Amino acid sequence: MTATGDATPHRAAQADAPVLHVTDVTVRFAGLTALDAVSFTVEPGSVHAVIGPNGAGKSTCFNVLSGVYRAASGSIRFGGTELTGLAPHAVAALGIARTFQNLALPPHATVADSLMLGRHRLTRSGFLAAGLRLPSAAREGRQHRERVREIAAFVGLERDLAHPAGALPYGKQKLVELGRALCMEPKLLLLDEPVAGMTGDERRQTAAVIAGVRDSLGISIVLVEHDMGVVMRLADAVTVLDFGRRIGGGTPARVQSDPAVVRAYLGEEATP
Ligand SMILES: Nc1ncnc2c1ncn2[C@@H]1O[C@H](COP(=O)(O)OP(=O)(O)OP(=O)(O)O)[C@@H](O)[C@H]1O
Ligand SMILES: [Mg+2]
Repeated sequence: MTATGDATPHRAAQADAPVLHVTDVTVRFAGLTALDAVSFTVEPGSVHAVIGPNGAGKSTCFNVLSGVYRAASGSIRFGGTELTGLAPHAVAALGIARTFQNLALPPHATVADSLMLGRHRLTRSGFLAAGLRLPSAAREGRQHRERVREIAAFVGLERDLAHPAGALPYGKQKLVELGRALCMEPKLLLLDEPVAGMTGDERRQTAAVIAGVRDSLGISIVLVEHDMGVVMRLADAVTVLDFGRRIGGGTPARVQSDPAVVRAYLGEEATP
């Protein structure tokens, strides 16, 4: 993955992102079926939105994709690899990065250090490959800091690198989280409500960054988001959940005109 700063989106990297097949995945918590035989497919280099009312199972879906929750049944295949049963670090090692619905940043670290956290997995494997404490480790450290700067510029945080992340406005903190996930050089990015709590300007900026992640980095994105404007503008495909079940899906236009979806979700949104 390379952020070239080129105005022309290049989609060559998309070949790197495998298809994600979620098939009949069920997740239960003592008596509650949070996901009930849910299936969807995320095409390489696309934005796939998962929408639905509060409690529909969207975050559960992320937690089972990232290895935090165990599926009671069903299959999640990322390219040739079965993800069900893998621990979160093993899922991350396959190139699946996530952000959380609520901010999960270390409170006092600078933006640069927070982003560097995203590179730990790559740093460790790099160190192993190069041999610990060899001079090449110092060079590797410089390369990581350089990449952190590139990614900060990509998400619009290049002027904030030295600031404590926790002191930034909320919208920028969310961008730090997004940047940290990008620092893992993922093939698939799971974004849980990336624009929640943002001002209008911050929403527009973040939506542009997410579109850029897809268009110029070729990363696949699963997007959970309540802001229907953002979903409809960004998503290539949508899966609609309600009470843990998949009640609809398809293109944004198709979903918007599906009566079952309008009843379950868009209707609710229309009456604040
Ligand atoms: N760890 C857990 N233990 C027990 N129940 C849980 C757990 N996580 C989620 N649930 C339940 O599973 C259901 C789905 O929750 P989930 O958080 O996935 O919904 P959501 O679609 O993300 O909602 P929101 O829009 O409010 O974020 C809810 O009824 C929730 O209470
Ligand atoms: Mg949620």
